[in-house]
Amino acid sequence: MTPDTYRVDESHQMWIGGLRVRDLVAKYGTPLYLLDYATIIARIQHYQQALSTLNPPGQAFYAGKAFLSEAMAGLLEEQQMGLDVVSGGELYTALRAGFSPAHIMFHGNVKTRSEIAYALKARVGYLVCDSFEELDRIESEAARLGVTAPVLLRITPGIEAHTHEFIRTGQFDSKFGFGLAEGIADRAITQALEHRHVQLLGFHAHIGSQILDEAPFIHNAQTLLDLSRQWYQSRGWWPEVLNIGGGFGIRYQPQDRPPQLDAVVQQISHLIAKGTPSTMNPPRVFMEPGRSIIAEAGVTVYQVLVKKQVPGGKWYVAVDGGMGDNIRPALYQAEYQAAIDSKADWLPTQRVTVAGRYCETGDVLMREINLPPVAINDTLVVFATGAYNYSMASNYNRVPRPPVVLVDQGQDHLWIARESYEDLVHADRPWTPVAWEPR
Ligand SMILES: Cc1ncc(COP(=O)(O)O)c(C=O)c1O
Repeated sequence: MTPDTYRVDESHQMWIGGLRVRDLVAKYGTPLYLLDYATIIARIQHYQQALSTLNPPGQAFYAGKAFLSEAMAGLLEEQQMGLDVVSGGELYTALRAGFSPAHIMFHGNVKTRSEIAYALKARVGYLVCDSFEELDRIESEAARLGVTAPVLLRITPGIEAHTHEFIRTGQFDSKFGFGLAEGIADRAITQALEHRHVQLLGFHAHIGSQILDEAPFIHNAQTLLDLSRQWYQSRGWWPEVLNIGGGFGIRYQPQDRPPQLDAVVQQISHLIAKGTPSTMNPPRVFMEPGRSIIAEAGVTVYQVLVKKQVPGGKWYVAVDGGMGDNIRPALYQAEYQAAIDSKADWLPTQRVTVAGRYCETGDVLMREINLPPVAINDTLVVFATGAYNYSMASNYNRVPRPPVVLVDQGQDHLWIARESYEDLVHADRPWTPVAWEPR
């Protein structure tokens, strides 16, 4: 839940990455996103170590949708991590940071023709194809550019992961991928094999996000292996790659128990050893973790500016951020834990609802949580906000987005600057009188 380097000192003050939160607030202001380098590195290395036990070694591709910036792409490149991107913008960010295109997986259920051409020209390692239209577009763009497109087909395996319906993606009734039912996936494989400028390297399936048990991941790998075996038996085709997606859950609440990565990888290793035909090489296993790399590395720091008791006795405290920097509570009832700097280990004696500053009744960050007595100007720290917070942030109400600061061993590094009012109007063009008669 908290970053690995989080600690509270004798005077109840919070430290992250060897720095006092209070000093970071004095330097950068609030709201403020902090990322702990040690936590990110530990999570990356855990995936790399676990996947290195496979034969052939697997590969992790960090899902950039969780959080991406040029500095993040640089860190990933330095750690020799792969990267999953879903748009021309994410691809541009990675390439600008000098990220190796061969280690990029280009995803997305709607890729425009120009995004496909951009990815092919950049020579990304893999394109994950999501629809029949896209398969044809990839073929025609690859033919036009005189290249061969390295393709994985996204399969919808019909697995219902136990997570919020908005972040479930593996069930047949989904906008993603080719369903295994009704021969849809088989038709896609047939077409991919017929296309002259497509090289079908294997399959991908991502079943959802914030999944807390191991079984769906094993089930997913087994489903992709079964499909591969059917194709080997009927047509002699066998995949080089099976990508089982991301989705490992994290601790948003103290009682959350994330799945055991090593146990999952070990079971997949057995499945692959058992399921690979004796005449073929075992496929490489890819994973695409996003949240489980970055979420717990991050916290968001706010200042409490309003406190009110409403008729009936309920207490609201309101902070200087909210749904503009963290849309998840409003989008899918995500729940967070928080603490107050300088009171971090005090007894929680007050039940409060933490609201944001945006003009929506639904702009509530945490409902009815227990905190020590909250005072105006207190610094409120919300935990596990590293994933899908900054990356989903908006300028609703024309509020500038907060900065992102990486902390490590007593040093702070500005990764993304706070937006200014000037940034907000950057793309605006001034009013010019319209040509027709005024009304
Ligand atoms: C295709 C795909 N891969 C990977 C991820 C990353 O998932 P998570 O952040 O839960 O690990 C997602 C998330 O939506 C996804 O859609």
